[in-house]
Amino acid sequence: MRLDKFLTEMGKCSRSEGGKLIRSGKVTVNGEIIKKPDCKINPLSDSVTLMGETLTYKKFTYIMLNKPDGYVSATDDEKEKTVLDLVNDEDRRKGLFPCGRLDKNTLGLVILTNDGDGAHRLLSPKHHVEKVYKFEVDAPISSEDVSRLENGVDIGGYLTKPCKIKLYDNLSSGEITLTEGKYHQIKRMMEAIDNKITYLERISFGSILLDESLKRGEWRYLTTAEEEIFKK
Ligand code: URA
Repeated sequence: MRLDKFLTEMGKCSRSEGGKLIRSGKVTVNGEIIKKPDCKINPLSDSVTLMGETLTYKKFTYIMLNKPDGYVSATDDEKEKTVLDLVNDEDRRKGLFPCGRLDKNTLGLVILTNDGDGAHRLLSPKHHVEKVYKFEVDAPISSEDVSRLENGVDIGGYLTKPCKIKLYDNLSSGEITLTEGKYHQIKRMMEAIDNKITYLERISFGSILLDESLKRGEWRYLTTAEEEIFKK
């Protein structure tokens, strides 16, 4: 890999800034100052430093974010604040994107990554990765409606796949587990039983649970154990 590309992939700078840093002697490879941006390195075995800091190569970055209300699940948007606005510039430069979308007013677990293949695998309905959402609706849900939702409802020409519903005692809130993610799916499922979502929060994505210590808008890197889900 080219040295300037390595610096960019590590989120340290843009490619052109990387070139400048290298040419000005700020970068060493295996202890030697290298001034050629196109110098080829092996990111796994060569030791690279930038202004004295050793850069350890990680192919991909994975971030868990607790999405607040009012942010869109996009990398950039002309009018709206995006979930990428909540992370630092260094990570942003790595080309992160949200792994699946939440609506602007849906809260909770969003995973940001630059692992395109891993994200694609996780989102594919073939893999039946379960996503759990906490919800509240306008009116209590009857047991007949729970069966309808669980067996699949028509959301405008599409019959939803079987899902699981756990109702809390007040019957107008609970948890819904989906293995697919159609546009506004839960909202449209509730509309199909003449009800209306008033609160929606994703609390898990496969084996990854929303970290309760993260406040809305806060994020952390996934642990090595959590990252495993992307590699299976
Ligand atoms: N279903 C919805 O309706 N909205 C979301 O954000 C996620 C699932």
